[in-house]
Amino acid sequence: MTAQPSTSFDTLRWVGNRLEMLDQRLLPARVEYRSYDTAAAVAEGIRSMVVRGAPAIGCAAAYGVALAAQQLRNEPRAQAVAAMDAAFAQLAASRPTAVNLFWSLQRMRRIWEGCQEQDSVVIARRLLQEAQEILAEDIRINRSMGEHGATLLEDGARVLTHCNAGALATAGHGTALGVIRSAVASGKRISVLADETRPFLQGARLTAWELLQDGIAVTLITDNMAGHMMATSQVDAVVVGTDRVAANGDVANKIGTYMVAVLARRHDIPFYVACPLSTIDLNTPDGSGIPIEERSRDEVLGHGDVQWAATGVSVRNPAFDVTPAELVTALITERGVVRSPDRAKIAALF
Ligand code: MRU
Repeated sequence: MTAQPSTSFDTLRWVGNRLEMLDQRLLPARVEYRSYDTAAAVAEGIRSMVVRGAPAIGCAAAYGVALAAQQLRNEPRAQAVAAMDAAFAQLAASRPTAVNLFWSLQRMRRIWEGCQEQDSVVIARRLLQEAQEILAEDIRINRSMGEHGATLLEDGARVLTHCNAGALATAGHGTALGVIRSAVASGKRISVLADETRPFLQGARLTAWELLQDGIAVTLITDNMAGHMMATSQVDAVVVGTDRVAANGDVANKIGTYMVAVLARRHDIPFYVACPLSTIDLNTPDGSGIPIEERSRDEVLGHGDVQWAATGVSVRNPAFDVTPAELVTALITERGVVRSPDRAKIAALF
Protein backbone atom coordinates (compact mmCIF):
# COMPACT_ATOMS: atom_id res chain seq x y z
CA MET A 1 0.00 0.00 0.00
CA THR A 2 1.33 3.46 -0.79
CA ALA A 3 0.65 6.76 0.93
CA GLN A 4 1.01 10.17 -0.64
CA PRO A 5 2.72 12.89 1.38
CA SER A 6 0.47 15.83 2.19
CA THR A 7 3.16 18.41 1.49
CA SER A 8 4.14 20.24 -1.66
CA PHE A 9 7.72 18.86 -1.63
CA ASP A 10 9.36 15.45 -1.29
CA THR A 11 12.03 15.05 1.37
CA LEU A 12 13.36 12.03 -0.50
CA ARG A 13 12.17 10.20 -3.61
CA TRP A 14 13.19 7.34 -5.87
CA VAL A 15 13.65 8.49 -9.47
CA GLY A 16 14.78 6.00 -12.13
CA ASN A 17 17.36 3.92 -10.32
CA ARG A 18 18.57 6.64 -8.00
CA LEU A 19 17.65 8.27 -4.71
CA GLU A 20 17.01 12.00 -4.76
CA MET A 21 17.13 13.98 -1.51
CA LEU A 22 16.13 17.58 -0.94
CA ASP A 23 19.34 19.28 0.21
CA GLN A 24 18.25 20.66 3.60
CA ARG A 25 21.55 22.47 4.10
CA LEU A 26 20.50 24.95 1.40
CA LEU A 27 16.99 25.67 2.68
CA PRO A 28 15.32 28.11 2.73
CA ALA A 29 17.49 29.93 0.18
CA ARG A 30 17.43 27.18 -2.46
CA VAL A 31 15.21 24.16 -3.14
CA GLU A 32 17.61 21.68 -4.76
CA TYR A 33 17.61 17.90 -4.98
CA ARG A 34 20.78 15.82 -4.94
CA SER A 35 20.98 12.48 -6.64
CA TYR A 36 22.58 9.35 -5.10
CA ASP A 37 23.58 6.02 -6.61
CA THR A 38 25.74 4.39 -3.92
CA ALA A 39 25.33 3.52 -0.25
CA ALA A 40 28.57 5.40 0.55
CA ALA A 41 27.19 8.59 -0.98
CA VAL A 42 23.91 8.23 0.93
CA ALA A 43 25.87 7.70 4.17
CA GLU A 44 27.76 10.92 3.46
CA GLY A 45 24.45 12.70 2.71
CA ILE A 46 23.15 11.64 6.13
CA ARG A 47 26.37 12.58 7.91
CA SER A 48 26.55 16.02 6.30
CA MET A 49 22.82 16.73 6.96
CA VAL A 50 21.56 16.84 3.37
CA VAL A 51 18.84 14.72 4.97
CA ARG A 52 18.19 14.82 8.71
CA GLY A 53 15.47 14.01 11.22
CA ALA A 54 15.18 10.51 12.66
CA PRO A 55 12.54 8.91 10.36
CA ALA A 56 13.98 10.53 7.21
CA ILE A 57 17.44 9.21 8.11
CA GLY A 58 15.93 5.72 8.46
CA CYS A 59 14.27 5.98 5.03
CA ALA A 60 17.45 7.27 3.38
CA ALA A 61 19.49 4.41 4.87
CA ALA A 62 17.00 1.84 3.55
CA TYR A 63 17.42 3.27 0.04
CA GLY A 64 21.19 3.23 0.59
CA VAL A 65 20.98 -0.55 1.08
CA ALA A 66 18.76 -0.84 -2.02
CA LEU A 67 21.39 1.08 -4.02
CA ALA A 68 24.14 -1.27 -2.80
CA ALA A 69 22.03 -4.25 -3.91
CA GLN A 70 21.64 -2.69 -7.36
CA GLN A 71 25.39 -2.99 -7.81
CA LEU A 72 25.51 -6.76 -7.19
CA ARG A 73 26.26 -8.69 -10.40
CA ASN A 74 25.82 -12.35 -9.41
CA GLU A 75 29.37 -12.35 -8.07
CA PRO A 76 30.41 -15.22 -5.77
CA ARG A 77 28.35 -15.23 -2.58
CA ALA A 78 31.29 -14.26 -0.31
CA GLN A 79 31.98 -11.17 -2.41
CA ALA A 80 28.32 -10.11 -2.43
CA VAL A 81 28.11 -10.57 1.34
CA ALA A 82 31.27 -8.49 1.82
CA ALA A 83 29.92 -5.69 -0.41
CA MET A 84 26.58 -5.61 1.40
CA ASP A 85 28.26 -5.77 4.83
CA ALA A 86 30.39 -2.77 3.87
CA ALA A 87 27.27 -0.83 2.81
CA PHE A 88 25.45 -1.65 6.06
CA ALA A 89 28.54 -0.60 8.06
CA GLN A 90 28.97 2.72 6.20
CA LEU A 91 25.32 3.62 6.70
CA ALA A 92 25.33 2.61 10.38
CA ALA A 93 28.34 4.86 11.02
CA SER A 94 26.69 7.97 9.53
CA ARG A 95 24.97 9.32 12.67
CA PRO A 96 24.73 7.76 16.14
CA THR A 97 21.67 9.10 18.00
CA ALA A 98 18.55 8.51 15.86
CA VAL A 99 17.61 4.89 16.50
CA ASN A 100 15.42 4.83 13.36
CA LEU A 101 18.66 4.47 11.39
CA PHE A 102 19.51 1.17 13.12
CA TRP A 103 15.88 0.04 13.13
CA SER A 104 15.68 0.51 9.37
CA LEU A 105 19.06 -1.16 8.71
CA GLN A 106 18.00 -4.14 10.81
CA ARG A 107 14.81 -4.45 8.81
CA MET A 108 16.75 -4.27 5.52
CA ARG A 109 19.27 -6.81 6.81
CA ARG A 110 16.51 -9.31 7.56
CA ILE A 111 15.30 -9.02 3.95
CA TRP A 112 18.85 -9.31 2.61
CA GLU A 113 19.52 -12.41 4.69
CA GLY A 114 16.29 -13.94 3.46
CA CYS A 115 17.10 -13.47 -0.23
CA GLN A 116 20.89 -13.55 -0.59
CA GLU A 117 20.82 -16.95 -2.35
CA GLN A 118 18.73 -15.47 -5.17
CA ASP A 119 19.64 -13.88 -8.48
CA SER A 120 21.06 -10.34 -8.07
CA VAL A 121 18.11 -8.83 -9.97
CA VAL A 122 15.69 -10.45 -7.53
CA ILE A 123 17.75 -9.26 -4.53
CA ALA A 124 17.80 -5.68 -5.84
CA ARG A 125 14.05 -5.74 -6.49
CA ARG A 126 13.26 -7.17 -3.06
CA LEU A 127 15.40 -4.62 -1.18
CA LEU A 128 14.00 -1.73 -3.17
CA GLN A 129 10.48 -2.92 -2.38
CA GLU A 130 11.28 -2.92 1.31
CA ALA A 131 12.77 0.60 1.18
CA GLN A 132 9.64 1.81 -0.62
CA GLU A 133 7.49 0.15 2.03
CA ILE A 134 9.47 1.80 4.86
CA LEU A 135 8.86 5.18 3.23
CA ALA A 136 5.13 4.61 2.60
CA GLU A 137 4.68 3.20 6.11
CA ASP A 138 6.35 6.27 7.61
CA ILE A 139 3.77 8.55 5.99
CA ARG A 140 0.89 6.35 7.17
CA ILE A 141 2.27 6.26 10.71
CA ASN A 142 2.72 10.04 10.77
CA ARG A 143 -0.88 10.52 9.68
CA SER A 144 -2.06 8.20 12.39
CA MET A 145 0.06 9.95 15.06
CA GLY A 146 -1.31 13.22 13.73
CA GLU A 147 -4.89 12.10 14.29
CA HIS A 148 -4.20 10.92 17.84
CA GLY A 149 -2.17 14.03 18.69
CA ALA A 150 -4.63 16.51 17.18
CA THR A 151 -7.17 15.60 19.88
CA LEU A 152 -4.77 17.02 22.49
CA LEU A 153 -4.75 20.51 20.98
CA GLU A 154 -7.58 22.96 21.62
CA ASP A 155 -8.96 25.19 18.90
CA GLY A 156 -6.82 28.35 19.02
CA ALA A 157 -3.84 26.64 20.67
CA ARG A 158 -0.46 28.32 20.50
CA VAL A 159 2.07 25.51 20.16
CA LEU A 160 5.79 25.80 20.74
CA THR A 161 8.07 23.39 18.88
CA HIS A 162 11.81 22.88 18.82
CA CYS A 163 14.02 21.83 15.88
CA ASN A 164 12.21 20.45 12.82
CA ALA A 165 10.07 17.37 13.33
CA GLY A 166 8.11 17.98 10.17
CA ALA A 167 7.72 16.55 6.68
CA LEU A 168 11.37 17.46 6.15
CA ALA A 169 12.38 15.16 9.01
CA THR A 170 10.27 12.24 7.74
CA ALA A 171 8.98 10.76 4.50
CA GLY A 172 6.06 13.22 4.73
CA HIS A 173 3.50 14.87 7.05
CA GLY A 174 5.93 14.94 9.99
CA THR A 175 5.74 13.80 13.60
CA ALA A 176 5.39 16.93 15.80
CA LEU A 177 4.42 19.07 12.81
CA GLY A 178 2.21 16.19 11.64
CA VAL A 179 0.19 16.62 14.84
CA ILE A 180 -0.13 20.32 14.04
CA ARG A 181 -1.00 19.62 10.36
CA SER A 182 -3.69 17.16 11.38
CA ALA A 183 -5.14 19.57 13.95
CA VAL A 184 -5.28 22.31 11.31
CA ALA A 185 -6.86 19.88 8.81
CA SER A 186 -9.54 19.08 11.38
CA GLY A 187 -10.53 22.74 11.40
CA LYS A 188 -8.69 23.94 14.52
CA ARG A 189 -6.94 27.28 14.42
CA ILE A 190 -3.40 26.50 15.53
CA SER A 191 -0.42 28.84 15.59
CA VAL A 192 3.15 27.71 16.00
CA LEU A 193 6.06 29.30 17.86
CA ALA A 194 9.21 27.89 16.29
CA ASP A 195 12.41 27.90 18.32
CA GLU A 196 15.30 28.95 16.12
CA THR A 197 17.26 25.87 17.32
CA ARG A 198 20.88 26.84 17.69
CA PRO A 199 23.34 25.92 16.30
CA PHE A 200 22.12 24.29 13.06
CA LEU A 201 18.98 26.46 12.89
CA GLN A 202 16.50 23.73 11.96
CA GLY A 203 13.71 25.88 13.43
CA ALA A 204 14.59 29.12 11.65
CA ARG A 205 15.49 27.51 8.33
CA LEU A 206 13.35 24.38 8.09
CA THR A 207 10.28 24.57 10.37
CA ALA A 208 9.63 28.17 9.36
CA TRP A 209 9.99 27.31 5.64
CA GLU A 210 7.90 24.15 5.85
CA LEU A 211 4.98 25.77 7.71
CA LEU A 212 5.03 28.82 5.45
CA GLN A 213 4.78 26.45 2.42
CA ASP A 214 1.57 25.02 3.90
CA GLY A 215 0.08 28.30 5.09
CA ILE A 216 0.24 27.35 8.80
CA ALA A 217 0.73 30.36 11.10
CA VAL A 218 4.30 30.36 12.38
CA THR A 219 6.29 32.85 14.44
CA LEU A 220 10.02 32.47 14.91
CA ILE A 221 11.71 33.05 18.28
CA THR A 222 15.28 32.52 19.41
CA ASP A 223 15.76 29.63 21.83
CA ASN A 224 16.30 31.93 24.80
CA MET A 225 12.87 33.55 24.34
CA ALA A 226 10.93 30.37 25.18
CA GLY A 227 10.92 31.05 28.95
CA HIS A 228 9.59 34.56 28.47
CA MET A 229 6.85 33.35 26.11
CA MET A 230 5.74 30.73 28.64
CA ALA A 231 5.95 33.07 31.63
CA THR A 232 3.74 35.59 29.83
CA SER A 233 1.08 32.98 28.94
CA GLN A 234 1.79 32.90 25.23
CA VAL A 235 2.24 29.10 24.94
CA ASP A 236 -0.56 26.54 25.43
CA ALA A 237 1.35 23.36 24.59
CA VAL A 238 4.76 22.12 23.51
CA VAL A 239 5.00 19.42 20.81
CA VAL A 240 8.40 18.05 19.78
CA GLY A 241 9.76 15.00 17.97
CA THR A 242 12.42 12.60 19.16
CA ASP A 243 15.46 10.68 17.93
CA ARG A 244 15.32 7.90 20.50
CA VAL A 245 13.09 7.05 23.45
CA ALA A 246 14.61 4.71 26.03
CA ALA A 247 12.63 1.81 27.52
CA ASN A 248 11.74 3.92 30.59
CA GLY A 249 10.40 6.85 28.53
CA ASP A 250 13.44 9.16 28.65
CA VAL A 251 13.48 11.17 25.41
CA ALA A 252 16.53 12.17 23.33
CA ASN A 253 15.87 15.06 20.98
CA LYS A 254 17.61 18.08 19.51
CA ILE A 255 19.84 19.98 21.92
CA GLY A 256 17.72 22.49 23.85
CA THR A 257 14.66 20.24 24.15
CA TYR A 258 15.46 19.46 27.80
CA MET A 259 15.52 23.18 28.58
CA VAL A 260 12.09 23.59 26.96
CA ALA A 261 10.70 20.62 28.95
CA VAL A 262 11.94 22.07 32.26
CA LEU A 263 10.36 25.42 31.41
CA ALA A 264 7.09 23.77 30.38
CA ARG A 265 6.88 21.94 33.73
CA ARG A 266 7.65 25.18 35.61
CA HIS A 267 4.74 26.87 33.84
CA ASP A 268 2.36 23.91 33.91
CA ILE A 269 2.26 23.65 30.13
CA PRO A 270 1.80 20.16 28.60
CA PHE A 271 4.94 18.78 26.97
CA TYR A 272 4.08 16.25 24.22
CA VAL A 273 6.52 14.08 22.28
CA ALA A 274 5.42 12.70 18.90
CA CYS A 275 7.10 9.33 18.65
CA PRO A 276 6.62 6.51 16.14
CA LEU A 277 7.29 3.06 17.61
CA SER A 278 10.39 2.84 15.38
CA THR A 279 11.93 5.56 17.60
CA ILE A 280 11.49 3.56 20.81
CA ASP A 281 14.62 1.62 21.76
CA LEU A 282 13.70 -1.15 24.20
CA ASN A 283 17.37 -2.20 24.33
CA THR A 284 18.39 1.04 26.02
CA PRO A 285 17.06 0.92 29.59
CA ASP A 286 17.19 4.68 30.24
CA GLY A 287 18.41 7.96 28.77
CA SER A 288 21.94 7.64 30.18
CA GLY A 289 22.61 4.89 27.60
CA ILE A 290 21.63 6.98 24.56
CA PRO A 291 24.68 7.97 22.46
CA ILE A 292 24.81 11.74 22.05
CA GLU A 293 26.37 12.91 18.79
CA GLU A 294 29.03 15.61 19.12
CA ARG A 295 29.21 17.63 15.91
CA SER A 296 31.74 19.97 14.34
CA ARG A 297 32.87 23.06 16.24
CA ASP A 298 32.25 25.11 13.10
CA GLU A 299 28.47 24.87 13.65
CA VAL A 300 28.86 26.80 16.92
CA LEU A 301 31.54 29.25 15.81
CA GLY A 302 29.32 30.75 13.09
CA HIS A 303 27.12 29.90 10.14
CA GLY A 304 28.09 29.30 6.50
CA ASP A 305 31.11 31.42 5.70
CA VAL A 306 30.59 33.79 8.62
CA GLN A 307 32.39 33.23 11.91
CA TRP A 308 31.19 35.35 14.83
CA ALA A 309 32.97 33.62 17.73
CA ALA A 310 36.47 34.52 18.87
CA THR A 311 39.09 32.58 16.94
CA GLY A 312 40.82 30.04 19.17
CA VAL A 313 38.01 29.60 21.69
CA SER A 314 37.32 26.00 22.67
CA VAL A 315 33.85 24.73 21.71
CA ARG A 316 31.39 21.98 22.68
CA ASN A 317 28.65 20.91 20.30
CA PRO A 318 26.49 18.05 21.64
CA ALA A 319 23.69 17.78 19.08
CA PHE A 320 21.07 16.16 21.37
CA ASP A 321 20.00 16.13 25.00
CA VAL A 322 17.85 13.82 27.10
CA THR A 323 14.57 14.85 28.72
CA PRO A 324 13.68 12.58 31.65
CA ALA A 325 10.37 10.73 31.30
CA GLU A 326 8.96 12.53 34.35
CA LEU A 327 8.84 15.79 32.34
CA VAL A 328 6.91 14.22 29.46
CA THR A 329 3.15 14.77 29.67
CA ALA A 330 2.49 12.19 26.95
CA LEU A 331 4.05 10.30 24.06
CA ILE A 332 1.96 10.48 20.90
CA THR A 333 2.39 7.23 18.96
CA GLU A 334 0.63 5.62 16.00
CA ARG A 335 -1.05 3.30 18.52
CA GLY A 336 -2.41 6.16 20.61
CA VAL A 337 -1.47 8.63 23.33
CA VAL A 338 0.58 7.33 26.28
CA ARG A 339 0.21 9.69 29.23
CA SER A 340 3.01 9.89 31.84
CA PRO A 341 5.09 7.28 29.97
CA ASP A 342 6.95 4.67 32.00
CA ARG A 343 8.58 1.29 31.41
CA ALA A 344 5.35 -0.73 31.72
CA LYS A 345 3.27 1.53 29.47
CA ILE A 346 6.00 1.56 26.83
CA ALA A 347 6.45 -2.24 26.91
CA ALA A 348 2.68 -2.62 26.47
CA LEU A 349 2.86 -0.80 23.12
CA PHE A 350 4.76 -3.71 21.51
O1 MRU B 1 20.12 16.83 13.92
P1 MRU B 1 18.77 16.61 13.32
O2 MRU B 1 18.27 17.78 12.55
O3 MRU B 1 18.71 15.31 12.56
O4 MRU B 1 17.81 16.45 14.57
C1 MRU B 1 16.45 16.22 14.34
C2 MRU B 1 15.65 16.22 15.59
O5 MRU B 1 16.14 16.37 16.67
C3 MRU B 1 14.17 15.96 15.43
O6 MRU B 1 13.45 16.62 16.42
C4 MRU B 1 13.93 14.45 15.57
O7 MRU B 1 14.73 13.73 14.65
C5 MRU B 1 12.53 14.09 15.36
S1 MRU B 1 12.13 14.18 13.66
C6 MRU B 1 10.59 13.68 13.34
